[in-house]
Amino acid sequence: MATPLKVCVTGAAGQIAYSLLYQIGHGDVFGKEQPLILTLLDITPMMNALHGVVMELHDCAMTLVKEIVPTDSEEEAFRDIDVAFLVGSMPRREGMLRKDLLTANAKIFRSQGLSLDKFAKKTVKVVVVGNPANTNAMICSHFAPSIPKENFTALTRLDHNRAKAQIATRIGVRSDAVKNVVIWGNHSSTQFPDVSHATVEVEGKTLPVYEAVKDDAWIEGDFITTVQGRGAAVLKARKLSSAMSASKAVCDHVRDWWFGAPQDEWVSMAVMSDGSYGMPEGVVYSFPVRVSADCKWAIVKDLPISDFAREKMEKTAKELEEEKKTALEFLASNSS
Ligand SMILES: NC(=O)c1ccc[n+]([C@@H]2O[C@H](COP(=O)([O-])OP(=O)(O)OC[C@H]3O[C@@H](n4cnc5c(N)ncnc54)[C@H](O)[C@@H]3O)[C@@H](O)[C@H]2O)c1
Repeated sequence: MATPLKVCVTGAAGQIAYSLLYQIGHGDVFGKEQPLILTLLDITPMMNALHGVVMELHDCAMTLVKEIVPTDSEEEAFRDIDVAFLVGSMPRREGMLRKDLLTANAKIFRSQGLSLDKFAKKTVKVVVVGNPANTNAMICSHFAPSIPKENFTALTRLDHNRAKAQIATRIGVRSDAVKNVVIWGNHSSTQFPDVSHATVEVEGKTLPVYEAVKDDAWIEGDFITTVQGRGAAVLKARKLSSAMSASKAVCDHVRDWWFGAPQDEWVSMAVMSDGSYGMPEGVVYSFPVRVSADCKWAIVKDLPISDFAREKMEKTAKELEEEKKTALEFLASNSS
């Protein structure tokens, strides 16, 4: 059997991790032949709950999971890890301003960046799920300079999956018939779900989504606002944020990163911007990416961008620049 992969999940006592850990342990991300050592990080007050999760993982009797290490120590959680799922973050409490949420999480992700830099393998792959995910990923990478920037990503695959599902339902096809949607920008309500390059297979024929839907006003109106507001709608209905769909999306994101995505398809991933499409460098921005089998992603270049799209892409970029400025200024004046 292969050498075990060392995989860390933070926020391990939380609700996303509750679904995610089963899927990782079951081989849905790294394959059915890959043994795993799981390190599970949460904060000290959650250690009892985390022990309950560990008991359940044992009770799943999963053959791939060789060892489980629950801990409240970043050093123990991150030492020599191959992959980090950074799910844990400070949740938004009632009355909390967006700025307070941003700065509370900036402190967490500075600390985790420093610890990854010190303790993780230099090849570690990091996906940030905890919100504000894009800016948390930027902070984490900033404080882990010895790890390549391309090893840090944030999750917009849930938004990508939501967009595919909306289009598939509208046309009445399976969601895998819809290809090449794009989520541009921030995992927030400013994100731009774009189907102007997307195709759909209907009765054996591949059509542009615009042609198959035959309702431009819906595509440029309700479709966009539904995807942008889907997280809030789930929260309102469940009184808890998306967890089942979020953990499925995390698995899709990391599985495609690990094994490569189908070459006729791109996926949306928030990655360190290199200035593609005129978006600002140095923010973690969601782009269409192709992923090859050697775990390398590349931004899809040179898609034609309409004025309608550019305005939306710039709006979400501006939000990310503001978040970056707020977070870095706060950290500069709060060194501990
Ligand atoms: N990017 C996305 O698409 C997406 C989708 C859904 C949810 N989210 C975000 O994912 C995060 C987790 O969601 P959830 O529903 O599991 O929340 P949750 O509140 O159920 O769990 C979060 C866990 O993180 C832990 N935690 C807090 N600070 C920590 C730290 N410093 N180190 C380790 N653990 C820490 C908490 O104790 C808790 O157990 C939230 O920020 C949520 O907004 C992102």
